[in-house]
Amino acid sequence: MSAPSKTERPAVAQHVAIIMDGNGRWARRQGLPRAEGHRRGVLALKDIVKAAKVRQIKYLTVYAFSTENWRRPQAEVDVLMDLLVEFINSEVSELKSEGVRLDAIGHIEELPARCQEKLAEGMAATRMGRNLVLTLALNYGARREIVDAARALADAVRSGQIETQEITDAVFSAHLSTKDLPDPDLIIRPSGEWRLSNFLLWQAAYAEMYSTEVLWPDFDEKELDLALDAFAQRDRRYGAISRTDQTS
Ligand code: FPP
Repeated sequence: MSAPSKTERPAVAQHVAIIMDGNGRWARRQGLPRAEGHRRGVLALKDIVKAAKVRQIKYLTVYAFSTENWRRPQAEVDVLMDLLVEFINSEVSELKSEGVRLDAIGHIEELPARCQEKLAEGMAATRMGRNLVLTLALNYGARREIVDAARALADAVRSGQIETQEITDAVFSAHLSTKDLPDPDLIIRPSGEWRLSNFLLWQAAYAEMYSTEVLWPDFDEKELDLALDAFAQRDRRYGAISRTDQTS
């Protein structure tokens, strides 16, 4: 699917990105192990993918595992990796029939082999999907992504493929892992936090932020609608002035 230009600004959110936060707190409040919170987080993700498609969102990008999440106890990391494999196993045929294309960003080559294989299988099976692109951010960190792009551009300058002056916003964007995605319009963070936590730092330049106290496992399509309604009320000026102020 060809991505719309990064300067084309839609009135409705066509790219929604979500920091799926609060699984641990949800589990603690229910007196359950953290792993159960993550399991319920996957169920929430399944529902939100369906809801996003129905609402004609074209790109849904979810933060599933950050470069910092390796610091968690090994048992929790293992649960998250197993859940990734189970998610693809259980969802791939439905994603395919719904026209959802599965993709991933992040250093996938550092994930356990079983995850890499399953992701490759899921992406290949759904590659013809045209309704929604579901991008899983896995072993993803925005600073690392930006450093990777800077290194690639430095190499390109050194080898004479590009002049320093030719490096623009667009050229830089084209060296990020999100090069095939438009910038996110709306970034949702459940669990009452407003941090970006190293997620899409470059791409979020003009994204609208939305946060809710609801924890990710409880985030359902009603919550998605509240976020989309809030987005629809925002006056996106991109550094210019509001349309209503232009005549005064
Ligand atoms: C943050 O909650 C959540 C994560 C680090 C993992 C997000 C992962 C999922 C929703 C499930 C995995 C999905 C796939 C497709 C693999 P937290 O544990 O930091 O919550 P807390 O801040 O309340 O402790």
